Amino acid sequence: MHEPLPRLRRSVLYVPASNERALGKSAALPCDAVILDLEDAVGPEEKADARERLRALLAGPGRPKCEIVIRINPLGSEWGTEDLLAARAGRPDAILLPKVDGPRDILEADAALDETDAPRSIRLWAMVETPRSLLNIGSIAELGRDPAARLSCLVAGTNDIAKETRVTGRGNLLPWLMQVVLAARAGNLTALDGVSNDFRDLEAFGRECAEARAMGFDGKTLIHPAQIGPANSVFAPTGEEIAEAEATVAEFAKPENRHRGVIAIDGRMVERLHLEQAEALLKKAREIEEKSK
Ligand code: COA
Ligand code: MG
Repeated sequence: MHEPLPRLRRSVLYVPASNERALGKSAALPCDAVILDLEDAVGPEEKADARERLRALLAGPGRPKCEIVIRINPLGSEWGTEDLLAARAGRPDAILLPKVDGPRDILEADAALDETDAPRSIRLWAMVETPRSLLNIGSIAELGRDPAARLSCLVAGTNDIAKETRVTGRGNLLPWLMQVVLAARAGNLTALDGVSNDFRDLEAFGRECAEARAMGFDGKTLIHPAQIGPANSVFAPTGEEIAEAEATVAEFAKPENRHRGVIAIDGRMVERLHLEQAEALLKKAREIEEKSK
């Protein structure tokens, strides 16, 4: 029951479910996914109101057309169960679980969804933001290999990691972020980088996206609409990469190369694994082109 990978998740925007204006905007934004947030972006006194706004948005004409994810409060918190029911009623593509410590948190949410007869098409995303989640990342990601489990995406929660570990500076976070990417690959999951709080500095943001892409992340979580454009472009294949991929495909398609495992193109060794990479890149480029029509 695996969804076909890779699904485009270059730009994934948090929208506080308590913010009527932001919710109203979310339908028209060109991000690949929205995370409608009931958790950290919503104050304790606003929770019930936010659930109601979420319900109205998802039932109405302003329902976003992109992938829809709802972040709920932890199931063990006073809001968790009501959030889960509200989220399930909104028929999202996925529910994002915060403060995950280990695989048990995900299995519990999976079972709670089953109890509501939620379709298996509602997936689970997991925040990786507690020290325990970083230590248990391998066993969390292992759930991605289980065809019966709903887990589909790991989301780095860099603000919480910094708070919980007392790390300062993105440089010191990088080893843990690399673990998130590695675990995602082992578990056939999407990996999303954390947010950049400084939403007015788009130049720094572009650099951070480029770094995240080089680290292997599929996309970036965002807090502001201005961050969508840079993320969409940085996480898309470049013209140069597309041309190179096309050349690789064309070379391997030649009759004399059809059965060869390795060839040379412009003085570089190119193996069949590069052909697979090239085909995946071209597929992604086509998806992006399709989306922009
Ligand atoms: N989603 C949708 N629309 C958003 C948005 C978001 N995340 N952030 C801002 N906007 C909208 C605003 O509503 C505003 O629209 P309006 O002019 O029609 O009112 C427009 O974009 C410009 O916003 P701006 O004035 O530049 O920002 P702000 O000062 O209103 O808000 C933040 C700044 C950071 C408070 C806001 O962007 C935000 O709440 N982001 C999400 C935070 C979040 O979810 N955190 C939890 C996960 S880390
Ligand atoms: Mg958090």
